[in-house]
Amino acid sequence: MQKLIVSALAAVMALSASAAKKSAAKLQFDASKGVAGSVEMPSGRVNYTAYTRLYFVTNVEDTTYQYVNVFVPEGATQQSPIFLKTNVGGYMPSAPGYPSAGDATGMALQRGYVVAIPGSRGRSSYVTKGKKKIYNGKAPAAILDLKAAIRYLRYVDKEMPGDAEKIITDGTSAGGAMSALMGATGNNPAYDSYLKAMGAADERDDVFASVCYCPITDLSHADMAYEWLYGQTDSRKANDEAHRQVTKELTALFPDYINSLGLKKKDGTLLTADNYLSYIKEELIRSAQIAKDAGATIPDSIGFTISSDKGTFAPINGGAGLPDLSQLPADMAKNLKEGKLPPKQVGEYVTGLDMDKYLNYVANKTPLKSAPAFDALGVAGNEASGENDEFGDVNNTPANFTDYSASKNGKTVSAKVKEEEYLLNPMEQIGQQGVTVAPHWYIRHGSIDRDTAFPVALNLATKLENEGKDVNFLLAWNRPHSGDYALNELFEWLAKITK
Ligand code: DHB
Repeated sequence: MQKLIVSALAAVMALSASAAKKSAAKLQFDASKGVAGSVEMPSGRVNYTAYTRLYFVTNVEDTTYQYVNVFVPEGATQQSPIFLKTNVGGYMPSAPGYPSAGDATGMALQRGYVVAIPGSRGRSSYVTKGKKKIYNGKAPAAILDLKAAIRYLRYVDKEMPGDAEKIITDGTSAGGAMSALMGATGNNPAYDSYLKAMGAADERDDVFASVCYCPITDLSHADMAYEWLYGQTDSRKANDEAHRQVTKELTALFPDYINSLGLKKKDGTLLTADNYLSYIKEELIRSAQIAKDAGATIPDSIGFTISSDKGTFAPINGGAGLPDLSQLPADMAKNLKEGKLPPKQVGEYVTGLDMDKYLNYVANKTPLKSAPAFDALGVAGNEASGENDEFGDVNNTPANFTDYSASKNGKTVSAKVKEEEYLLNPMEQIGQQGVTVAPHWYIRHGSIDRDTAFPVALNLATKLENEGKDVNFLLAWNRPHSGDYALNELFEWLAKITK
């Protein structure tokens, strides 16, 4: 009995400790506090020194999440790049973990990068004040914590191995959105007052490179993009009248949005609502061609046209003449430019795609989200989405964040939620004065991923490219909603940009 009480008490104490405020006068790093550890990689063990529980703010509200763990592999120096991995998923809180052979952190250590894994508060985080739960992890808490972690790495840069001017962020899904935010919102003064109140270091928070897998981002336009892309699929047509109406109305909002962005293709062509679907199609064809050249079989049933005639080149864009060379693998493009026949080893060409067929294929593979995909109409009931929860308030009441869904509920989006949406949206900050955007980007969205529509990742990549950033983008062939794949390819790219 005694024992039971003691352990129950210990559990209560542990709980209150995790929610307790912790005030440190100063941010610290003690190089003598490292602990030896290792990660087992397929090619052998990688040893590291671990520095854990490094609090990145002085006014710690949440001792479970507001710190970073840092792992220094044998041989790392002050010049080694820092691979910063966020494990955020679903906009939930994320505790700093350890490196793993199952994601990019293991390979990062193996390749000599210092690995930083920061925690961050999320939409279910709270602190208790008396009997009351105060939800303190809603938007923009996660990106604030991550920015504070970056500032901390700069603050201790001289004492800690690794180069804080070479931070590479990585994340998947909501974590991909966080990685995109770390890359796109560097030093934006809009975050300053929050970071100051938290006791974040007074340092810059821009980064060197951002790796984003299937970022669930641009939340205020994700619903319209989704219905515009998938609205004509059989799955949507089978919906009831009310949902078909939502699809129709949201679809109608997308053209103005895409036209307002003024995005351009690599060849300078202005992207508009009229040619945007062809742009997606070209990206899917490029993806299929890369996969085919690497030995993948492209099934006939999903809409692609494959030509095996080496002599005649069906144009990719449906017009006359040569295909857009930028859409072809480099060797093919070079040969074509020089007027040579396509190289022998590439015997077949992906020349066309029936988009209706392909979008139905994607929608049937994994059922679509219901309409609207992100900002639910029944937000007051239990139909609220994770994103409604992310924009919720300190009492854990979810909120609409788009004008469309709010108006359907007879409401308007509050100024506070509008500000939070801005702080959570990389698209709105790229190109803004006073914002330092990372120079290097690696963005992947799976060709069968329907968690958000293709335009979300494609717009992000195109906007960055239009701003003159180095962007490596691909609708990765046959990948569902997932991340940290094709790691050899990723790390070859990282080796090039960091050398
Ligand atoms: C995630 C996935 C979603 O479909 C979404 O809407 C938000 C987050 C995720 O896996 O992180």
